[in-house]
Amino acid sequence: MKIGIDRLSFYTSNYFVDLKTLAEARSVDPEKYYSGIGQEKMGIPPPDEDVVTLAASAAFPLMKDGELDDVELLLFATESGIDQSKAAGIYVHGLLEMSSRCRTVELKQACYSGTAGLQLAIGFVARNPGKKALVIASDIARYELGSPGESTQGCGAVAMLVSADPRLLAIDPECGYHTEDVMDFWRPNYRSEALVDGKYSTMVYIHTLLETWKQYAGLTGRALADFDHFCYHIPFTKMAEKAHQKLARKCKEPVDREQLHRLLEESLRYSRVTGNCYSGSMYVGLASLLDTAEADLAGRRIGLYSYGSGCVGEFFSGVVQPGYRDFLYADQHRNLLENRTELTYQQYEDIFNYGVPTDGGEYVFPQYKTGPFRFSGISQHKREYESLVD
Ligand code: CAA
Repeated sequence: MKIGIDRLSFYTSNYFVDLKTLAEARSVDPEKYYSGIGQEKMGIPPPDEDVVTLAASAAFPLMKDGELDDVELLLFATESGIDQSKAAGIYVHGLLEMSSRCRTVELKQACYSGTAGLQLAIGFVARNPGKKALVIASDIARYELGSPGESTQGCGAVAMLVSADPRLLAIDPECGYHTEDVMDFWRPNYRSEALVDGKYSTMVYIHTLLETWKQYAGLTGRALADFDHFCYHIPFTKMAEKAHQKLARKCKEPVDREQLHRLLEESLRYSRVTGNCYSGSMYVGLASLLDTAEADLAGRRIGLYSYGSGCVGEFFSGVVQPGYRDFLYADQHRNLLENRTELTYQQYEDIFNYGVPTDGGEYVFPQYKTGPFRFSGISQHKREYESLVD
């Protein structure tokens, strides 16, 4: 039985900062961001958008299409958690009016948790072939103002419906995975910005890729030439390119610029203008590839590398299904990305410093442009959400 991704919807905030604006404020050559790290824009969430509203907005098209009716498992992956006890997915479950016969859990392992969710969901469907799982990966990437990571910030969520006989991508059973206790990137509970050992994190990312590929190749006998495209975890697009070049050299199948472009470019388009979406980032890349590839990808095998600092990595793969184009949300994604509002540097800094109050007081948040749901305030220590759907 084939199991995999049946629908895939992506959402990011309606506001962005162009990295030339950041470059000017930081007295940096904009080319360092545009070509050095390969990023053009970063998505910035307004005060009334959080991981719950990003997630619910990502999953909303699935709800409208009646795709959530058979969902009995909701896995919410994030490293931007909003509560130490209650799973953020339960708010999403409520906003989307999902059936109460549903298991809902939050998963955490940095940017890897979306893949943990996908693999757990596949196990659930294998046992319950008529049922579906909803995996949502939602994050806000935040680094200190003026830090090296700042230009890689971003935000967004992906909602994936996992089912038998999937209409988009059947996931292959063989995987290479690797856990190692390292401190390359982390966020202690008392901080709202991540701490990162930047250069070291890029080395661990690549080391883990080579380990997971070695296992995957041993299990499948496949070589890099057996893949038509690759989707990498994308903290910034240059990272994915460098990682693939390194892997290709290691496998003695080196690629030139043109081949690299053909294998990766379509998967990098969305991330280049949204920034890092942490747990959802590789799946933003998958949506970008499926939505924007000119060629029909039906029957093509895609290599997938998921990496979460700390660290866990996984190399796995999937085969694009015939007719997949009829089940994409490509127009919706394009409209969203084309109609965002650009922020000035001062607006960006004001939003960054607004933060979510932590003093336990009563708050009503100003209304910005959001998707169908907004984070409207806090009362009696409880987050309040508003549905803008008629
Ligand atoms: N024109 C063109 N290129 C330029 C340039 C210019 N004017 N100025 C600099 N560059 C190039 C540099 O040569 C460099 O290229 P190479 O890597 O090919 O040498 C590139 O731009 C970046 O410059 P620096 O190395 O000087 O950048 P930095 O040290 O200021 O920051 C970083 C880079 C450390 C990765 C930083 O962005 C960071 O800390 N990011 C957050 C951590 C991260 O994303 N790590 C990735 C792996 S961990 C992970 O994947 C999990 C996750 O999601 C966080």
